[in-house]
Amino acid sequence: MSSSRSPSRRNSIDISQLQPMHRVHQSAGVGDFNVVFVGAGNIMFGSDEGPWNHSFRFEHKLGPRLKVVAVIDPAVERARAVLAQKCETFVRSAYEHTQVYKNLAEFVQHMTPNMAPRAFVIGSPPMFRGTTNPGRDIELQILKHFPGVALFIEKPVATGPKEELVQAFKVSEEIKKSGATCSVGYMLRYLRAVQMMKQIIEENNLTVMATIARYAAAYEAIAKLDWWDKSKSAGPIIEQGTHFCDLSRYFGGDVDISSVVAHSLEWDEPAGKLSKQKIDESQVAPENRISRVTSATWKYESGAVGTFTHLTALQGHDYSCELEVYADGYQLKLVNPYVAPILYVRRPGSDHEETHQFSEDDPFFSEVSVLIDNIEDIEEDPETAQILSSFEDAVKTYELTWAIREAAERSRAARK
Ligand SMILES: NC(=O)c1ccc[n+]([C@@H]2O[C@H](COP(=O)([O-])OP(=O)(O)OC[C@H]3O[C@@H](n4cnc5c(N)ncnc54)[C@H](O)[C@@H]3O)[C@@H](O)[C@H]2O)c1
Repeated sequence: MSSSRSPSRRNSIDISQLQPMHRVHQSAGVGDFNVVFVGAGNIMFGSDEGPWNHSFRFEHKLGPRLKVVAVIDPAVERARAVLAQKCETFVRSAYEHTQVYKNLAEFVQHMTPNMAPRAFVIGSPPMFRGTTNPGRDIELQILKHFPGVALFIEKPVATGPKEELVQAFKVSEEIKKSGATCSVGYMLRYLRAVQMMKQIIEENNLTVMATIARYAAAYEAIAKLDWWDKSKSAGPIIEQGTHFCDLSRYFGGDVDISSVVAHSLEWDEPAGKLSKQKIDESQVAPENRISRVTSATWKYESGAVGTFTHLTALQGHDYSCELEVYADGYQLKLVNPYVAPILYVRRPGSDHEETHQFSEDDPFFSEVSVLIDNIEDIEEDPETAQILSSFEDAVKTYELTWAIREAAERSRAARK
């Protein structure tokens, strides 16, 4: 698969700019800020599963300026129910006139001029987007009907069959050509710890030699049957490990996709037996059941080496995730980025490990805040923090995750 060669490494954001919601002034812009939410599910309106909840961050960033003009979701009742809840609270003014539509075409048909959106926030399931196929091409439809309007799109960019990857690159080209502001939801890039790592690399002019990533999911907490079914959610590397494959690329740069090799431990091997699944895996066809462990290595185009291991092995609730980045004389070790990020730094001249803790960090808010600042930044203020995850970059991460899944499947087939 060929991909364009623009660098995936971007400048860092000064970590003093990445503050929790209560310390950040609301957007300085004026007038209503119209937004359309696509998808009325967990990522948009929150759930017990995690801290994600885009509507909450938009409310804080925009205050009374936020006007959610439409929610688009085929599950109309689900959308109406969350809107009714919002209207019971002090953020009512953002939602009291929100219209619900089953699809984008209905919205286009019924939109009045004062509903014209400044941003679409897309949190529909990835199997319904990221392609050029009718009905699964919402990005292209938005570019067509709303040229220049900003897009925020959740990760991963798609989850269709591997053959459709080329379409995702096509969508990326169209977004780039349109010049629309676009951000993809790889929020870990906005962690203060991650930006500190970037800063150390930039300030010391370092060349990354290796990235070592480990993502151990707490499977007991994963009660969605689709997650356990490769035919539905494409498997844990593409759906979940994607965050750490993306972070690895953020530090290592573009990957030589032909170099990816991987092994897996499967559900039907003795060591792959799990005792605390909340779901009934017998409902998933054997060929669609997910791996318990996948371990991959690759070469970056820079020559550096990347390794990633995903595990469906822990019980309880919290995940255990770590990313190490090595450069001559340096080890940057990010621990527990989802729960309480800690960065351990070893530098030349000492074997001592510095420890940096980052309390009250909210990367979900930071990614929304940076998006709005970019949309409102008509003066192109050089101080405005830049969006850290472009659609093109996100497609390259998607490509890497498919390469890992396929390499693991090849290795398994060869051993049978
Ligand atoms: N960044 C993160 O940490 C994070 C966390 C959670 C979810 N996500 C991502 O957000 C996306 C959605 O996940 P979720 O947990 O909210 O799922 P969900 O199942 O809770 O909600 C998805 C919603 O989209 C609706 N929908 C289905 N088809 C649609 C279509 N064609 N157009 C519009 N809406 C449609 C569904 O009816 C549902 O209400 C996924 O890509 C997921 O990976 C990211």
